[in-house]
Amino acid sequence: MEATVSITLNPCNANLIKARTMATPPPTTPNPLRKPLIRVLLITILCSLFYFVGFYNSFNSTSKPLLQDPYCLQLKNITTLQNPRQPLHFEPQHTLSLPPDSPQSHQFFKYCPKNFTNYCPCQDPNRETRFPTGSLFHRERHCPGTAEALRCLVPTPVGYRRPFSWPKSRYYAWFNNVPFPRLTVSKKNQNWVRLEADRLFFPGGGTSFPTGVKGYIDLLKQLVPLKSGNIRTVLDFGCGVASFGASLIDYNILTMSLAPRDIHEAQVQFALERGLPAMLGVLSTYRLPYPSRSFDMAHCSRCLVQWIGYGGLYLMEIDRILRPGGYWVLSGPPINWRVNYKGWQRTQDDLKKEQNSLEDLARRLCWKKITERGPIAVWRKPTNHIHCIQKLKAWKSPNFCAEADPDAGWYMKMNACVTPLPHVADIHDIAGGALEKWPERLNTCSA
Ligand SMILES: *[C@@H]1O[C@H](CO)[C@@H](O)[C@H](O)[C@H]1NC(C)=O
Ligand SMILES: *[C@@H]1O[C@H](CO)[C@@H](O)[C@H](O)[C@H]1NC(C)=O
Repeated sequence: MEATVSITLNPCNANLIKARTMATPPPTTPNPLRKPLIRVLLITILCSLFYFVGFYNSFNSTSKPLLQDPYCLQLKNITTLQNPRQPLHFEPQHTLSLPPDSPQSHQFFKYCPKNFTNYCPCQDPNRETRFPTGSLFHRERHCPGTAEALRCLVPTPVGYRRPFSWPKSRYYAWFNNVPFPRLTVSKKNQNWVRLEADRLFFPGGGTSFPTGVKGYIDLLKQLVPLKSGNIRTVLDFGCGVASFGASLIDYNILTMSLAPRDIHEAQVQFALERGLPAMLGVLSTYRLPYPSRSFDMAHCSRCLVQWIGYGGLYLMEIDRILRPGGYWVLSGPPINWRVNYKGWQRTQDDLKKEQNSLEDLARRLCWKKITERGPIAVWRKPTNHIHCIQKLKAWKSPNFCAEADPDAGWYMKMNACVTPLPHVADIHDIAGGALEKWPERLNTCSA
């Protein structure tokens, strides 16, 4: 039982779950059963059918067994399938074949050795060393092949306890559940997380918000309409212990926090322990595992991504996953370099150049800079590409992506091109259809 709990805390499982959901994308065509008129009609037809079937059967109740009715025959087939002696027809339902029936398959799996408590098969620091470190390729997902795959259960940490329930888990986690003291020491003056006896306390600090995430969000809400309902989904890069995402919950905003496993332990494990959505991930060579136009806002606060490197590849990936009209929020270098250059130990000239390149790149993506105040700069993706098509034609670079499916995100290499938005007829139209505000969005779908 406890082992199952520890698996849900393991950050790599978020990837696995995503993998499964990505494998079977939900159908995009609107369900005709949603229309109330059709639903009422269908129910009426079914009710009459059952009435007549019942009527017919009561007439023939003695002469004809119920199971000869075609509807009941179907039931009979289900009953025969439930008979354990009949093998279940697996192949028609699944595209993958069953693993060979090994003699041990009916026994319980063994536990892995104790040092595997935080083992993530696809993000294993021991295997990482086999891959080139250029553009952080070693930090991408590298899953073991079948020969290397382990068949054991990840053991719970010693002294594991049931996590605090929400909302207490927002501030507290048992130290024994995520026994990583290094972060509490190395980030001590940044106030990310403190060790208080047997529990970790998350005061809401961060590298870019040493005075607390609350002050940071108080500023952000003056720049971006956090309360409007237009922003519901956010992707946070280099999330630390996900205090940013934790605070946005107050605004009815859901944040997916993303970070690679770095020299500190997997920080997303702290986030998951707190009950916050998080995933191991890095911008390196593959696209982010999301379809295009998924997020209302993307955020990076000193996330150490080389936004202007590789021909702007990574900012183009942000552009892909942002919805039309979505926000890009950046704090940390080079933003506000005039105030901070000494603390960052970089020259003013260097930072100024970086900021100019960044502004230029954003312009080439047809983004509009909304504002820059204090540590925060905000850009906005256009709501359609009517103007952008003309601009990109004139500039020659970057180009719109020609072939690749904009929604393919799973092990898909990134290309330095702009993902085209769906075509619109009018400059005021929103590409792909306007979205309702949250929470109305939940029960409507765009045309
Ligand atoms: C029930 O199963 C039999 C044999 O598999 C099949 O021929 C028959 O069509 C099935 N009946 C229904 C109603 O699905
Ligand atoms: C656990 O320890 C063994 C033996 O020292 C080592 O081979 C293995 O790589 C370790 N596993 C992890 C996940 O650290």
